[in-house]
Amino acid sequence: MDLCLIDKTVELLIAADHAIVLTGAGISTESGVPDFRSPGGIWERYDPTMFFIERFLAEPEEVWRCLLDMHRSSEFSLWDAQPNKGHMTLAYLEKIGLIKTVITQNVDNLHQKAGSGNVIEFHGNMLFVRCLECRKTYGYEYVLRELEESFPPHCECGGLLKPDAVFFGEAIPQDALRTSFREADDCDLMLVIGTSAQVEPAASLPRIAKGMNSHIRGFGGIPLSKPRCHVIEINWEPTPLTGQVSDFLIQGKAGEVLHTIEQKIREKYA
Ligand code: APR
Repeated sequence: MDLCLIDKTVELLIAADHAIVLTGAGISTESGVPDFRSPGGIWERYDPTMFFIERFLAEPEEVWRCLLDMHRSSEFSLWDAQPNKGHMTLAYLEKIGLIKTVITQNVDNLHQKAGSGNVIEFHGNMLFVRCLECRKTYGYEYVLRELEESFPPHCECGGLLKPDAVFFGEAIPQDALRTSFREADDCDLMLVIGTSAQVEPAASLPRIAKGMNSHIRGFGGIPLSKPRCHVIEINWEPTPLTGQVSDFLIQGKAGEVLHTIEQKIREKYA
């Protein structure tokens, strides 16, 4: 863990007017929730096509069987996972006003459990289910009760229930998309934590923060549309953003890096 880069990050957080955070599955692995693409990740354990909306609509029983297997699996603790130091630090930074918003690709509700208030769920939330007919939402407990009556679970109106996470082939919730793009445009600092930055449109947010999606260019192709914005990665390994979009990568475990940042800020604010 590069302490000079940690100090630089602390400095930029304190100086920023509008700092935001983009998180991916890597911030939750220290809570026992596997990420998707690391060795042993979710896509090694479960067939990704189970999470294609076409497949859900064609074979809801099949997909619900897979979801219940995940729910029952001892290693896959998404439903009862607890926030780790990384989530707690982001909630603390929001509380003292150093970050404005967390945009998360995660569907595990852990930022909210940690106390973060302004959380944009870019890919929805797996702890709730939604009726495909009347759009009513229920908590997971309803599903577990409903399963004693009917499989796959249905709404009181008779409609099929689906987890409220965005499946492949589904649109990102309009409000989440619009607000995230606006936040990325407005920010002067973005921390990008625990994401392989491979899935669009979330992976474009750091580029938007940097003004790289702007067609307006100055000398040397530097975008004119946006004053300087810093993008800092905190990740286990380099990503397509590293060296191309982000100012620098702090390589390490998100929970440890963020906890060190919090300690340094508490010293300054003590
Ligand atoms: N600390 C820091 N980085 C970590 C840690 C950790 N403790 N654990 C894992 N990582 C890193 C991995 O090295 C990887 O680069 O986090 C990244 C996680 O990448 P993915 O597994 O691809 O997860 P994510 O980027 O969130 O995936 C985006 O893809 O499958 C879809 O909808 C799904 O939201 C998900 C999207």
